[in-house]
Amino acid sequence: MVGRPASVEFPQVWRRFERTLPDGTVKKFKIQDVTEDMYDDVMFFMEENFLKEEPFTLAAGIIENQKALEQMHNFWRNEVLPLRLSIVCFEDYDGFRTFMKPEIVAFNFLIHSVKGQKKDKKNAEPSEIGRILQEVDSRFNIYNLHQVKEYLTAAGLAVNKEYRGMNIGAEMLHARTPLCKAIGIRVTETIFSAVGSQVLASKAGFETLIEIKYDDLAEKLKLKFPDSAKTLKVMTKIID
Ligand SMILES: CC(C)(COP(=O)(O)OP(=O)(O)OC[C@H]1O[C@@H](n2cnc3c(N)ncnc32)[C@H](O)[C@@H]1OP(=O)(O)O)[C@@H](O)C(=O)NCCC(=O)NCCS
Repeated sequence: MVGRPASVEFPQVWRRFERTLPDGTVKKFKIQDVTEDMYDDVMFFMEENFLKEEPFTLAAGIIENQKALEQMHNFWRNEVLPLRLSIVCFEDYDGFRTFMKPEIVAFNFLIHSVKGQKKDKKNAEPSEIGRILQEVDSRFNIYNLHQVKEYLTAAGLAVNKEYRGMNIGAEMLHARTPLCKAIGIRVTETIFSAVGSQVLASKAGFETLIEIKYDDLAEKLKLKFPDSAKTLKVMTKIID
């Protein structure tokens, strides 16, 4: 897979934002690149906040299957993170450094997809996830639809349970704009598998390309998706 161009400064902060809590406290946040010293924390965070809730990984039974879990970690650590495109959100303490490790507020695995590129089988996602993605991917073609040779896609978005309800996921999606501009990509796409993330994507300027009923996928792939999940949406945003 294609990684970050060497000319793009690393690490850097892509977005800063604030939220006012119900008690009036203002919290500041920053969204930045992921450095190698964070990899273990990212794995733990995504296991807790993503794999235990996201419809595809639930249907694929990743969390209760040790081999699949190891494959997932392997894919994230060896295939996705080294691309240096994924982003992480922390509270921003105005440059004040504490001795405590900062808690991950939100995380998004990002991948640069290039036309004609083959996946590395050694570090592939677990096969059940691969089957779902293959089926969904077979129903659209971003390269043709948007007349591009490359785009930025995602392999997992999650917000820390303690920080949900503040639309921080939408800020993560907005942060892709400066990132795409820096690396010279004109389109970003994601399969938004959960309704909450679909709502946030609309707020962040993504448009729906296709919508697929989970009942159809379940029948075709003989998988059981969570009852709360009705449809998935493939959504894209043009970076102006
Ligand atoms: C999806 C996720 C990232 C969103 O986190 P968040 O930024 O805190 O999202 P919020 O709760 O602030 O916002 C979600 C929005 O969806 C809406 N929403 C959630 N469920 C909904 C439903 N069933 N029907 C209609 N709207 C719904 C919420 O009302 C909210 O919109 P609002 O702020 O306008 O009221 C988070 O829930 C998460 O990490 N989930 C587990 C992993 C996952 O499923 N990731 C998505 C993969 S694409």
